[in-house]
Amino acid sequence: MKRPILIHPDPRLKKVCAPVPDLSDDLRRLADDMLETMYDAPGIGLAAPQVGVTRRLIVLDCVKEEGEEPRPLVMFNPEVVASSDETNTYEEGCLSIPDQYAEVTRPKVVDVRWIDRDGNPQAETFDGLWATCVQHEIDHLNGKLFIDYLGAMRRQMITRRMQKLKREQARA
Ligand code: NI
Repeated sequence: MKRPILIHPDPRLKKVCAPVPDLSDDLRRLADDMLETMYDAPGIGLAAPQVGVTRRLIVLDCVKEEGEEPRPLVMFNPEVVASSDETNTYEEGCLSIPDQYAEVTRPKVVDVRWIDRDGNPQAETFDGLWATCVQHEIDHLNGKLFIDYLGAMRRQMITRRMQKLKREQARA
């Protein structure tokens, strides 16, 4: 089932999310809903607070090539355990900040640990777009958005645009 995506600014997008203690059918359903919502948007990552659930859960799939197998990843309690000194700059966007993009510099390679959909611990090294995406999504769990990496003027301009968008949506 698709879920509505919160648009910035929203207090739920600024919260530090609580760890998931034990997996439950409800949490698995939430993960499946988030994947459906992400693919439908379409996007390459989504964090639970973006659908109003302040729990440490993200989903992502950065496979972009037409005809390539999709690779949906569900990560409960994801954690970056190591990151490279080498950095990478990507133009980032966010489903909670529609149609706004900006370059953000982050570590190029990260080692991430998480609990998968079946409750098994996983670890993997991510590079390139996957690394950027997983860091962007984990930031969401700490109440941080990609616009927080920009200068204050740019951030305020984008926030005002989003406030206007929300007013227009509320009237529609
Ligand atoms: Ni985002």
